[in-house]
Amino acid sequence: MPVLPATDDAIAQAAQALVRGEIVAFPTETVYGLGANALDAGAVAKVFAAKERPRFNPLIVHVPDLAAAQTYAVFNDTARTLAESFWPGPLSLVLPKRPGCGIADLVTAGLDTIALRAPNHPVAQALLAAAKRPIAAPSANRSGRVSPTDATHVADELGDVPALILDGGRCARGIESTVVRVTDAEPVLLRLGAVPREAIEDVLGHSIGLADEATPIASPGQLERHYAPQTPLRLNVKDVNPNEALLAFGPNAPQGARQAINLSAAGDLAEAAANLFAGLRALDRSGASAIAVMPIPDRGLGEAINDRLQRAAKPR
Ligand code: TXA
Ligand code: MG
Repeated sequence: MPVLPATDDAIAQAAQALVRGEIVAFPTETVYGLGANALDAGAVAKVFAAKERPRFNPLIVHVPDLAAAQTYAVFNDTARTLAESFWPGPLSLVLPKRPGCGIADLVTAGLDTIALRAPNHPVAQALLAAAKRPIAAPSANRSGRVSPTDATHVADELGDVPALILDGGRCARGIESTVVRVTDAEPVLLRLGAVPREAIEDVLGHSIGLADEATPIASPGQLERHYAPQTPLRLNVKDVNPNEALLAFGPNAPQGARQAINLSAAGDLAEAAANLFAGLRALDRSGASAIAVMPIPDRGLGEAINDRLQRAAKPR
């Protein structure tokens, strides 16, 4: 369907489509989302169908700000502190859902919790303002595949599914939001993402643990093999062979790959995160026998980058 530069007029068209119960793709600072009016079960069902997403895997609801979020969820002091520190921005909070709040049950997969996030992207914010609805939006890719960081990725993968695709250029962060559950006394990380664990720990004043993925209810989206290109990945390489593609990091990339992309020649983790999914997509099309990936330091954003690479490397 049409890919439109995200002008005021296109944003108004997208908002009208959402209100009519259609689905639209739009940019956020993390990745592109496939959005539906979160109050409209029929519209949300179209999102699950388009992505071939299992219905047990709930969606994130996008709102303009903390005040709007409080209509749908109960915030304790910790949740409020996290929202005030990181919103608008790439943090999703899983919180007790307010009964009768109007969010379609399908959005939350029937759970009594809801994931909320206020995105920090002018187009996403303008769309929320124009639609005057909370927007349920997973990443705009087919379930289990690499998230889109560019409007052309959405068009390539979901083609005519959305009523329209708002083109806001490349996503600055390039990796999905960090998901934190704040339902018990101790907050828990459900998904590593664009807010590094250390930044959350600085605000909390103590460490935060990663949820056990073996507990399905804790983190339903983490059960699938995720973020996967078709080509097998070989991680932590120092050398590359001539029929492999190379996903490099830092200044000392080995020579001799059939095709190479450097996530950040300067060794900058934020730059590497922003380039990760586009790099995987490009190398996946290279016809290489495998994608060889150099080691990425496991600190700051590197933790989320390594999480995505490890999932992408899991055998199918
Ligand atoms: O950056 C992002 O978060 C992007 C943009 C579009 O905002 N969205 C995104 O959505 O990555 P999605 O659907 O690909 O990932 C949502 C994650 C899944 O792992 C899902 O299981 C989890 O959030 N989630 C949503 N609601 C939840 C809930 N109530 N309890 C536990 N996990 C939840
Ligand atoms: Mg996703």
